[in-house]
Amino acid sequence: MQPLLLRKYEKQPKTTLEKRFFEEFVPNALHPITGLPVQLYPYQRDALHNLFGHQRNLWEWGRQTGKSSNTGLYLAFMSREIRGDAIISSFRHVRSKEIVKWARDWCYAHKDSAYAENIEYDAATHLTFKTGFRVIALPRGETSRGYATRIRIMDESQLINDSDLAAFLPTGLATAPRDLFLGTVWGTSGWWWRFIQNAKQLGYALSQTTSENAVQPAGPIIKAELENLKMELGDLQYAQECLLQPIPDVDVFFGSDLVKSCYGERIDLSKY
Ligand SMILES: Nc1ncnc2c1ncn2[C@@H]1O[C@H](COP(=O)(O)OP(=O)(O)OP(=O)(O)O)[C@@H](O)[C@H]1O
Ligand SMILES: [Mg+2]
Repeated sequence: MQPLLLRKYEKQPKTTLEKRFFEEFVPNALHPITGLPVQLYPYQRDALHNLFGHQRNLWEWGRQTGKSSNTGLYLAFMSREIRGDAIISSFRHVRSKEIVKWARDWCYAHKDSAYAENIEYDAATHLTFKTGFRVIALPRGETSRGYATRIRIMDESQLINDSDLAAFLPTGLATAPRDLFLGTVWGTSGWWWRFIQNAKQLGYALSQTTSENAVQPAGPIIKAELENLKMELGDLQYAQECLLQPIPDVDVFFGSDLVKSCYGERIDLSKY
């Protein structure tokens, strides 16, 4: 009888957790920017359902579709559910810190003040909760080894090369963490494209949405703003980052490290 009982016990918390997220946490979450009750779009709900049910997750979502904010929403909820660490990495550290900020802001905006009160220490790169959960933004290339890693998140996955991925995912962890990789697309020769193409065989739950599919009312994007983004990015980059069309072998022809080293934060010329 014992194994049966054990199996039942193991399954129970998973479904309870998911139920609590969708039936208690989300209906009482207020959007940190608008202050309005949050409404998840169908692709966001599906992806979040997957995140509870699958250990490995890929969200191949175009720009501005809600990658950072939905990840932060999940972390805010988890802050009172588990102990241990959620480790975030990205091509640019500023992007990981953005997710930390979303997690923090969702806690402060939640109708249940227990989420805000649970924050013990609040910094740009990490959050510590009284219940023993931490959210930590690591610089790219650093390992998640040495942490009590329960959740691993990688943003801008399309720009991460194989060695930085390998550093981030050390083997030999006693408990396999939940993985969530977020990104658009770049070329076709890196791990990210291979993961997307072979998601099922590799055991990843794949969620995909282009920015055009996420124009209101199906998603959060205002059509006119997407037009502006298209002008800013140019056709090629728009096709990659918003329509999820890779440039085949771009990383081989142009040398991805060289090209990626040219990526940086936008310079504000008015300051000079
Ligand atoms: N369900 C939602 N309800 C209200 N606003 C939303 C929702 N999902 C996303 N947004 C809004 O859309 C905007 C973009 O979200 P976010 O920054 O999370 O997207 P992203 O995919 O991480 O973007 P980027 O590709 O630039 O990193 C934010 O202002 C966010 O508040
Ligand atoms: Mg983002």
